[in-house]
Amino acid sequence: MGNPVAHSQSPWIHARFAELTGQSLHYDKRHIALDGFTPAVRAFIQEGGRGCNITVPFKFEAAALATHISARATLAQASNLLQFNAGAIFSDNTDGAGLVNDIQRNAGFDLSGRHLLLIGAGGAGAGVLGPLILASPASITVANRTLSKATVLVARHAALALLQKTELSAQNLQTLAGRFDVVINATASSLSGTGVPISASTLKPGALAYDMMYGPAAQGFMTWAREHGATPRDGLGMLVEQAAEAFLVWRGVLPPSQQVLTELRLAQHTG
Ligand code: ATR
Repeated sequence: MGNPVAHSQSPWIHARFAELTGQSLHYDKRHIALDGFTPAVRAFIQEGGRGCNITVPFKFEAAALATHISARATLAQASNLLQFNAGAIFSDNTDGAGLVNDIQRNAGFDLSGRHLLLIGAGGAGAGVLGPLILASPASITVANRTLSKATVLVARHAALALLQKTELSAQNLQTLAGRFDVVINATASSLSGTGVPISASTLKPGALAYDMMYGPAAQGFMTWAREHGATPRDGLGMLVEQAAEAFLVWRGVLPPSQQVLTELRLAQHTG
């Protein structure tokens, strides 16, 4: 469920997961009116719906609708997944686990002990900060154009960061200082066509530069990263991995996500 949702690859991904794991699953996309999220969920439950993914702009409403909420969705205050069971609505967020799995497992880049920069403190940034902290990096700097949003997000994650011994701080994007092993773009800057909102001096040589978007929206950031000696990566793997985690929540089976990511990349290249 989302708005817009026409471009979504999720039906294909989940159909492939079901095929590869022998699960019977029906997964469609639904375009929901901007003021119609809660009635749409109630109607879906009435029809016998068992669960769904939630995308922009309903992730906050989805978290608020829950009768039960996971720890990671509580920290994010946003949800990309609902599960319905005997009147209860369980809400979870698999975006961050998807990002971390793609970076560590698929890209082979270990986050522990590294210095991370997360740019963006909107819904996308909020969804991944908790799982990033759980990967035990040495530090995470959250930089945002509007500093107050980064400060609030950091404050909400301060206890978890303390437990994990990860130094967590907020910075203003315009006056950002420091050099990082991993730079993660969770801003909507590529959609606004304003270019990459940080200086290349933030990249350590060989840094991983990750854009949570994929397709044409990620290209500007990827090209910028490549031109400045960083290793670029788009968010297609995150998309597949968050779906795999969702499939695990719904079905108790972890699908072969790496195989499906390879197939998806191949399909994109061959058009
Ligand atoms: P999403 O759910 O995609 O995160 P959002 O909640 O609207 O969407 O957040 C968008 C993020 O992109 C915010 O961090 C926003 O910065 P502000 O909080 O200052 O608005 C950031 N963003 C959008 N356009 C940007 C730009 N041109 N330069 C830098 N940051 C930008």
